[in-house]
Amino acid sequence: MKTDFEYAVSAAGRVNIIGEHVDYCGGKVFPAALSLKNTIYIKKTDAKEIVLSWSDLPSSVTLDLSSLESYKNVPHASYFAACADVLQKSGVEVPGCVVLSDCTVPFGAGLSSSAAIEVSFIAALLLIAGVKKSPVEIALLAQKAEREYVGTQCGIMDQYASACGKKDAALLLSCDTLACKEVPLRLGDCALVIANTNKPHSLVSGKYNERRRETAEAFERLGTRVDAPCLAAVKEEELERNKDLLSDVLYKRAKHVIEEVARVERAEEAMEKGDLAALGALLKASHASLRDLFEVTGKELDALAAAANDFSECLGSRMTGGGFGGSTVSIVKKSAIERFEKEVGARYEREIGYKASFYIAEISDGLTIKKLGESEK
Ligand code: GLA
Repeated sequence: MKTDFEYAVSAAGRVNIIGEHVDYCGGKVFPAALSLKNTIYIKKTDAKEIVLSWSDLPSSVTLDLSSLESYKNVPHASYFAACADVLQKSGVEVPGCVVLSDCTVPFGAGLSSSAAIEVSFIAALLLIAGVKKSPVEIALLAQKAEREYVGTQCGIMDQYASACGKKDAALLLSCDTLACKEVPLRLGDCALVIANTNKPHSLVSGKYNERRRETAEAFERLGTRVDAPCLAAVKEEELERNKDLLSDVLYKRAKHVIEEVARVERAEEAMEKGDLAALGALLKASHASLRDLFEVTGKELDALAAAANDFSECLGSRMTGGGFGGSTVSIVKKSAIERFEKEVGARYEREIGYKASFYIAEISDGLTIKKLGESEK
């Protein structure tokens, strides 16, 4: 079936090592791109439509290029319409095409399957339209599609990692300036293990946008006395001194953001030194803060993180991504991974009633483009 296509364009899912719910507050994050990815097989046509099909779905959907806004509620197709729409609105003449989408990032697992789809599809459309853009520009367009069409007011972390990820490196990304430092993963005799709660999460119907509003309000209130460019830049003592400006809930949200940003700095130092015990402790503290202050975990993520954190050869575990379901990331001794999966998996199933799934994170490049030559067809 793939013989009919001209290009294969892939973009990665991501795991965020630490720095959760701080990207939209101007903070630093520390994600890495996964080898789990979405691949778009694409061929340009002369028709004024995009014919979409999926490797794991029997049906196909045709998008009319003159009415892209009408697919907002069409399952699976809406993300693709979002990408084409955002490109058209930015002045790109989107060509007709035939597309096959093949996603190995599990959906709803908090590993950014939607960013992988958006980044790969936007890159593929730009390729056949003959328009050159950098991976960062593609990430920004993908974020725009997610915000303006899909309706999730997400930050830039997922799309950036999906487009700009580097093999065996984590990205220390400042979300206010998009300055990024690649930090080689120094995990020694450990690996990053991802555990999916298998509780589907939805950022829109979940409380993601509510958290964004709360942090914006906290910043607005603090801004009446504190001179800082964003919430992430407010200092811990400034928060304490001006606590009276905030309700209990807004104080908790702000405290998480400000402390999490400090943890990211310390995590980078720990990674540079290969101090995995320190990194693990920061992961644990991050989870506790997301549970108690930011309140985005839920019983499934808490059960999975607690089981991992009680496992002696796990140095630290936390939820990763938006939360309300999705996955945890844990630093686990390589020699104990099998036992980790068995014991943590069994405890999770006992407590929650269904199974978790485990993946060993392979850190890979973000966006890759391949022209399909005769030999590869
Ligand atoms: C989702 C969003 C990101 C980020 C994380 C939480 O994955 O898409 O922008 O806010 O949640 O860190």
